[in-house]
Amino acid sequence: MSCSVRSSPLQGRMALNRLFVLFLGTALPLLFFFSLADAGKVGVSYGRLGNNLPSTASVVKLLKQSGITTVRLYDANPRVLKALANTGITVMVMLPNDHLAAAAADPASARRWVLRNVAAHYPATRIHGVAVGNEVFEEASNLTRQLVPAMANVHAALVRLGLDEAVKVSTPLAFTALQESWPPSAGRFRDDIARPVMKPMLDFLERTGSYLTVNAYPFFAYVEQPDKISLDYALGSAKAGVRDPVTGLVYHSLLDAQLDATFFAMEKLGSSGARQGNSLGRGTPPARAYVSESGWPSGGRRRPGRRLDLEAGGGAGASAAALANAKAYNNYLINRVLSCDTGTPYRPDADMDVYIFALFNENDKGCGEDDIEQHFGLFYPNQTKVYEFDFRGAAPSASSWCVANASAGVAWLQAALDWACGHGADCSDIQAGAPCFEPDTVVAHASHAFNSYYQRSGRASGTCDFAGAAYVVYHAPKIGNCVLPSQVWIQEAAAKSEGYAAI
Ligand SMILES: *[C@@H]1O[C@H](CO)[C@@H](O)[C@H](O)[C@H]1NC(C)=O
Ligand SMILES: *[C@@H]1O[C@H](CO)[C@@H](O)[C@H](O)[C@H]1NC(C)=O
Ligand SMILES: *[C@@H]1O[C@H](CO)[C@@H](O)[C@H](O)[C@H]1NC(C)=O
Repeated sequence: MSCSVRSSPLQGRMALNRLFVLFLGTALPLLFFFSLADAGKVGVSYGRLGNNLPSTASVVKLLKQSGITTVRLYDANPRVLKALANTGITVMVMLPNDHLAAAAADPASARRWVLRNVAAHYPATRIHGVAVGNEVFEEASNLTRQLVPAMANVHAALVRLGLDEAVKVSTPLAFTALQESWPPSAGRFRDDIARPVMKPMLDFLERTGSYLTVNAYPFFAYVEQPDKISLDYALGSAKAGVRDPVTGLVYHSLLDAQLDATFFAMEKLGSSGARQGNSLGRGTPPARAYVSESGWPSGGRRRPGRRLDLEAGGGAGASAAALANAKAYNNYLINRVLSCDTGTPYRPDADMDVYIFALFNENDKGCGEDDIEQHFGLFYPNQTKVYEFDFRGAAPSASSWCVANASAGVAWLQAALDWACGHGADCSDIQAGAPCFEPDTVVAHASHAFNSYYQRSGRASGTCDFAGAAYVVYHAPKIGNCVLPSQVWIQEAAAKSEGYAAI
């Protein structure tokens, strides 16, 4: 299952088909079309602030085994990017805050950064986004005025390299960029940044087909006001909702309220998205806002570095940092995206990418073992899960297969077939003379290739989509004399125990 079909118009299949027709016969790499279809994904932030974390090769294996198909990095470490090459995993890299001033002041500096950290790895490593800085208003507020110029210079560098469609530029905002967030309809950006920074940033994001990214943590909102907010609501599933008195919309999830506050704040700066169609003249895309970080700590008692007293208010904050809550919240996030339930009360059609913070408990973060900062991981450094979670979605007991959708048309299927065979699908069985060559049709061959890609990706979310040309089935399909295999990847991985370079 993938949510990309109902995503924003540029990412919808119809738009892709149109683009495809427009560009058919040009030298544009096909990867371009498929990387556009990646919206609505749940991934993980791969932070590396720990002295006991596994090797990058082990991490890539762990990601594949866990069905994690998209990651966010806090730099553009070449070793990590190389390890992620040819894995099908999409990556958001980051230009760190300490490079921001140079990137803003000097287009040549931004260009060098893009060449070294994006172009040198793409497309083998599926970089799909550059985060320019991180929580700049919070962590490097003296660089606030440089932020949008730096984003524009990075974008211009991508344009010169022909990578601007595949790689989007954004900047993860701390949620404190909002002055007001409750009720959601009152959402607005801080006065000091709204007009001078956010307005030009939103114009830039709209013009470049990018999206706003926010780091949204219902956990922190809860621990600051445990007397006003219910834990269930912070965890995303309050039975009794909370009503926005202005819109009348009812919220059962604090994350939804935070996202809607963000949408309202964007609208107040004229970024309704409904103002204009996109460049293809279609539809009215909702303004996009994705979650560049969210998560919940499974332990820790304090947060001294951020002056947050978790023991205040009878210690409700400290007791919220608990394994059961972290498990509930992060599974809620995963299931929201995997079930394509990414809309909010105000924007029911909203699409979203979410990066869960974080892959590992990182022992160099915060101030000591007691600090909740060290307890956001899905995994311990020894690669044991901190709690159960499942990035492959429901029905893990039933096997599933991926087949081509004939309605996509022969030209599109052929393009997707070529792409799959070039990106890790085993296409040897559909060569002339091979056992599954007959029936010799594009639909049949595409089903073999799509299914191989899907199985080898661990049947992870989003890997049976091909921009809408494929769908998942739950009975083993028989095509000619061949039954499509399942779980090839898992068998191969077991057989090969070493490395995974081929995929
Ligand atoms: C911003 O402040 C940091 C220290 O907080 C300093 O290292 C950096 O040089 C400053 N940058 C600019 C452009 O003023
Ligand atoms: C991994 O580390 C955690 C936390 O230290 C520990 O509880 C768990 O038993 C370890 N697992 C293995 C397999 O060593
Ligand atoms: C196949 O594609 C058509 C046209 O886009 C669509 O209406 C249909 O729902 C798709 N079938 C499946 C099973 O996804």
